[in-house]
Amino acid sequence: MDKFVIHGGYHLEGTVSVSGAKNSTLALMPATLLANGVYHLFNTPHLRDVKTMSDLLHTMGVEVSLNDHVLRIDTRGIQKFEAPYELVKKMRASIYVLGPLVGRFGEAKVSLPGGCAWGPRPVNLHIEGIRKLGATVELDAGYIVARAQRLHGARILFDISSVGATGNVLMAAVLAKGTTLIENAAQEPEIVQLAEFLVSMGAKIHGIGTGRLEVEGVDELHPADVTTIPDRIETGTFLIAGALAGKKHGVVRVEQCNPQHVGALLVKLEDAGASISVGDNWIEIVPPEEIRPVNVTTAIYPGFPTDMQAQWIALMTRSTGTSVITDTIYYDRFMHVPELQRLGANITMKDNIATVVGVPKLIGATVMSTDLRASASLILAGLVAEGTTEVLRVYHIDRGYESVEKKLQLLGARIERVEYDEFG
Ligand code: EPZ
Repeated sequence: MDKFVIHGGYHLEGTVSVSGAKNSTLALMPATLLANGVYHLFNTPHLRDVKTMSDLLHTMGVEVSLNDHVLRIDTRGIQKFEAPYELVKKMRASIYVLGPLVGRFGEAKVSLPGGCAWGPRPVNLHIEGIRKLGATVELDAGYIVARAQRLHGARILFDISSVGATGNVLMAAVLAKGTTLIENAAQEPEIVQLAEFLVSMGAKIHGIGTGRLEVEGVDELHPADVTTIPDRIETGTFLIAGALAGKKHGVVRVEQCNPQHVGALLVKLEDAGASISVGDNWIEIVPPEEIRPVNVTTAIYPGFPTDMQAQWIALMTRSTGTSVITDTIYYDRFMHVPELQRLGANITMKDNIATVVGVPKLIGATVMSTDLRASASLILAGLVAEGTTEVLRVYHIDRGYESVEKKLQLLGARIERVEYDEFG
């Protein structure tokens, strides 16, 4: 098992490039189940979650290989329509195979994903949506078992805007007989890319980028290639690193990113006193003289993303005042708070609201990663904590950040990956 050993107090400056978006890749990969053939997904990040999704498709008879960020998928050998518990428990996004399998093959057996580090992760919206398209869906011994002759169009309204449920129902609807209307659809860039990819495969989808998607079912789709959009959460994480640990009057430049996808964060970083300049595919941040306290409430896209909440709290631990961070998407996504408190952060929790009182300094300590974005916030705090911080169980961060320590080293951080025996 690996840990990161971080020597705090080294300022960051320079240029870092962002990898392809994890949450786009995890939707694009199952979409290839909708048509036989060979696909190439360019700009695919080398992540644990991509490996897990690859393993899942492989168990179905699909050939998957990733070389130098090009993911080649050959679906001509698909023969199994099941997602086993052993893989689904590692990654909730495995449920994305449900829609394409039942939409194209009329059958799917997918393990219920269970919870994650910060609490329950229901899938009722996925199931209700697939049922409305005409599938029979039973829960049997921890598995979702879906069957259909051929799905038919339906009008579906999501009571909660859900990224995963929108993606699953969209992938189920493209081969259904008739027209499907999805109201209150998620508008995240990853869902926009999924819809555009499906259209490039021959699907007929209108309203892409809005909360109202209209799908005209077709009888058959064909393979296509796609270049994955940049990861907006990795982009935001490096920008917060720049705001937190940037060199006085120095610049951290994030390249191969899409500034349009991080608009909410850029506003909040300027509110906190950073200077931001943007180009087509780059963003530069000059750190604030002093970090101003800025309240944040997470929201669905294009609001402030819940996936940036932990990183924002890390920034606010070093602000000159008090800030209030509210997560309206996941009420209990605060496993990073007790770990940040070990570094000397002054944070109090009430329900889904964190009140952060900035402190003059953080003191390095050993802290535990619990989930992907919590790990990111602990690394950020370690960059500015006095002394040495050890972040344990970095397999969590390897799920969603490609070679994060190498990218931070490029910016001047003193961080190294060290193997350790946690139970030794
Ligand atoms: C996606 O998860 C992302 N994962 C998450 O990123 C992200 O935090 C989340 O969207 C919100 O933006 C991937 O794209 C692989 P949701 P997803 O369905 O689809 C509730 C990361 O760090 N809900 O949009 O699972 C749910 O409990 C990960 O990269 C239901 O009630 O999220 C939550 O409160 C973590 N019933 C809200 O909707 C359902 O059937 C939004 O969840 C589904 C969701």
